[in-house]
Amino acid sequence: MATVDIMIFSFVLVSGVLNVSLETVSGSSQGDFKFDWRDYGVITPVYYDRSSVDNSASIVTAECVESLNAIQGKTKAIDLSWREVADCCKNYPSEPYWTWFECILNIGGLCTEADYRSGAGVCNNKTCTAVGKVTGNGIIPKGSENLMAEIIHQTTIVAYIDVTPESFQSYTGGIYSDRNCTPGGIYDHVVQIVGYGTEAGVDYWILKNSWGISWGEQGYMRLLRGKNICGISAMNIYPK
Ligand SMILES: *[C@@H]1O[C@H](CO)[C@@H](O)[C@H](O)[C@H]1NC(C)=O
Repeated sequence: MATVDIMIFSFVLVSGVLNVSLETVSGSSQGDFKFDWRDYGVITPVYYDRSSVDNSASIVTAECVESLNAIQGKTKAIDLSWREVADCCKNYPSEPYWTWFECILNIGGLCTEADYRSGAGVCNNKTCTAVGKVTGNGIIPKGSENLMAEIIHQTTIVAYIDVTPESFQSYTGGIYSDRNCTPGGIYDHVVQIVGYGTEAGVDYWILKNSWGISWGEQGYMRLLRGKNICGISAMNIYPK
């Protein structure tokens, strides 16, 4: 019978910020552990859209706002409108993507997916009530995977990555480590980082994708951590 580590997560609510500390209390495996926001009910169901990098950027931006508001106890994990992100934040303010949480702050927050009426490129933020709020936009310096593992305890993270390899497109499970993709500079897809862990001595990130639940591990991927695989630490932002 396999032995596993038993983790204890303790929660302390300090001025609206959920501080999660974890410690290994027992176990005989090789230091396996996992910190996974799915375990806390703050992640919405996996979306399906394989159309464009722009759509994935909007979807993941909305998902990070959903998760932050749920982590902070302001809302349940509800679907916020990624179409509102697309309509209102495309090219905000001039350079795409880097400051989209600032854009969301600027438009007063995001409405739910159900409430937002798509403006097909025109920002319709006045026709619905914003429920997903942010206070700012955080940018993580390139290559800071240790810092990312600290920040993930407060919020989920946007990652712009290269998903060119067929092995990524058709991934079915396990810890992905194919180096056949560029380590930054080519961004053809966006994913939400929702946790990290170590299994049998191998460090990994947990990524939520938007290619439906039949891709990967129920729509998720574990990707080798600490090696900037596919540019996982090349372009990262998060909502504050
Ligand atoms: C909609 O966005 C504009 C900025 O584009 C902002 O000035 C305005 O306050 C927002 N409206 C609401 C209802 O939040």
